Amino acid sequence: MTTFASNPSEITLALCSDHAGYELKCRVIEYLGSKGYKVRDFGTHSVDSCDYPDFAHPAATAVERGECQAGIAMCGTGNGIAMTLNKHAGVRAALCWAPELAALARGHNNANILVMPARFIDPQVAIATVDAFLESNFEGGRHERRIAKIPVKQ
Ligand code: RB5
Repeated sequence: MTTFASNPSEITLALCSDHAGYELKCRVIEYLGSKGYKVRDFGTHSVDSCDYPDFAHPAATAVERGECQAGIAMCGTGNGIAMTLNKHAGVRAALCWAPELAALARGHNNANILVMPARFIDPQVAIATVDAFLESNFEGGRHERRIAKIPVKQ
């Protein structure tokens, strides 16, 4: 079964953070580059205080449009940026702070954006969490029925 990790050079990942997630985002981008992934960095681009929706919305739109196959996002707690990303109907953003959570977010929820709490996660655990997200696949079956019920009916 193919995962995002099966063929990194064919995968473009949308990255975004606010100031609190900036340093972790830089580490993750460096790691992803070393693994051969393509990255679109939607900002922020410094530790200057900023507002996470300004970066989350463009990243979410790129995933919704299929310009990026998945995304990785972080703010201090992960909550604000996850709330913003999940306003997009085509996004399933999952807040994860351990590899096991990321694997289940892919396996059960078909999450297409991994969110991490930059102020509450060790950088090495964050990298392991990124790996788990990229190396896991959606299990389908009963989970397909459940995620189909997530969108709000118009
Ligand atoms: C920034 O101080 C902080 O509020 C933000 O990174 C995030 O945790 C919000 O949800």
